[in-house]
Amino acid sequence: MRKHHVTWSVLAAFMIVGLLLSGCAGVSKASEDPGAGSADSEGVEEPTVEVEPKDYGVPADDANIINPIAADDGSLQRGEEIYSSSCVKCHGEEGRGDGSVGAILDPKPVDFRAEHVKELSDGELFYITTHGVEGSGMLAFTFFEEEDRWHLVNYMRTFQE
Ligand code: HEC
Repeated sequence: MRKHHVTWSVLAAFMIVGLLLSGCAGVSKASEDPGAGSADSEGVEEPTVEVEPKDYGVPADDANIINPIAADDGSLQRGEEIYSSSCVKCHGEEGRGDGSVGAILDPKPVDFRAEHVKELSDGELFYITTHGVEGSGMLAFTFFEEEDRWHLVNYMRTFQE
């Protein structure tokens, strides 16, 4: 029984990675239907979905690490580049957790503007990006250079401004 369970999660992980790598053109086209509420998305200040605060269990030492990379134009540009290729399908164009793949996950990624995410330190965002979140579709992105993971942190902050 246990073995069966493990095999299933491994399969699920492969499926998710497969979806990402294939670019899932069909799926993302469908969800980008211009009729689907994009018109009034501008100017919306508050997160669209209420979420329970979540403890991501980041060790204090990691949470307190100071972001070594200034959020200048170069950093944000690099962050956006990686976000667009590797995060947007789940987290959505504006970090609202409404990417085409994110929408079919359980748990779903939350809106980066949710209060408990705003309150995360840079160190915590960095840790989550590096280690993923166990039991969810959030992968450990260790294959990005450390510096790139900080660029991602800087870019994620722009959603919260
Ligand atoms: C396969 C889908 C998927 C991809 C790709 C993905 N994430 Fe996530 N991410 C999630 C899910 C699902 C959660 C929520 C986990 C939970 O709450 O248990 C999450 C959570 C997070 C969180 C904590 C805030 C939140 O939404 O709960 C951060 C920060 C984060 N991801 C950053 C990133 C970054 C940066 C990238 C790209 C390098 C990325 N993620 C790519 C699915 C994904």
